[in-house]
Amino acid sequence: MNDRRAVSDRREAALRRLGLVPGVAELVRAALDDAVGRAEAARGAEAARGAEGAAPPAVVVLDAGCGRNSALARYRARIGRFVGVDIHEPAPGALPYLDEFATVDLCASPDAFPAATFDVVLSSFTVEHFVDPGVAFANLARWLRPGGSLVLTTVNRRHPFVAAYLGMPDGLRRRVQPVVKASAADAHPLVGACNDPAALRTALARAGYEEICIGTVGHLARAWGRRLPTFALGLVGDLLTRGIPSRRSTLVVTALIPGPGA
Ligand SMILES: C[S@@+](CC[C@H](N)C(=O)[O-])C[C@H]1O[C@@H](n2cnc3c(N)ncnc32)[C@H](O)[C@@H]1O
Repeated sequence: MNDRRAVSDRREAALRRLGLVPGVAELVRAALDDAVGRAEAARGAEAARGAEGAAPPAVVVLDAGCGRNSALARYRARIGRFVGVDIHEPAPGALPYLDEFATVDLCASPDAFPAATFDVVLSSFTVEHFVDPGVAFANLARWLRPGGSLVLTTVNRRHPFVAAYLGMPDGLRRRVQPVVKASAADAHPLVGACNDPAALRTALARAGYEEICIGTVGHLARAWGRRLPTFALGLVGDLLTRGIPSRRSTLVVTALIPGPGA
């Protein structure tokens, strides 16, 4: 195990001892377990209604704003078609789990995919970067199949540190971002147009989603955890809001497109 990995494991163990569990990763995994299972059941039911003995059509998923990691990758064996989109093209071979990558601005490009293409859409830590979240949510809603699932994570402006970070003048924030992030490549322009639970719920409902569930979790120590001072600052932020769910740093959201019978 290399030094960096050992430090990160020690910090994760400390967060667990302090009761800062579950983390975002566990909540997203639970949401995706449900979403992928739901998609398999819907595809199975479709096959049962069709020709006898026909295999269920494969599950089709989108990572919207896929960056360089995808929590969907662990479901690869259960996915028939795995698409990633981002405004930045990945380095060749960087996302080996994808079947397709397309350069797409989610806040524009409504015709990037035909309607009702995907069973599951994951969009992880993207909403804070969206110039027009309403357009992005409407695009994703159109591209999801009836009954399809959306899983989102983003930052919560109701946390005082997040509010301060999003409220910084652009020039200052551009200098701070590479310090708290793993690398300059992870420092994307921030907008924060739809980054509190109420605004997010309203925007998703307006775009046609139902069964919108918005959970909160403290994630600053983990997100800023590469360096000790920013890990410590994040830890203070997580502990400050541990008992105040509406003010925790990070939102984990699930929502559905109304099903075929709706
Ligand atoms: C913080 S990174 C998260 C990457 C990845 N989803 C993850 O969880 O590691 C945000 C990603 O959203 C992408 N992004 C931002 N605005 C976008 C837009 N309008 N359309 C598509 N992708 C966008 C960025 O290029 C970046 O890759």
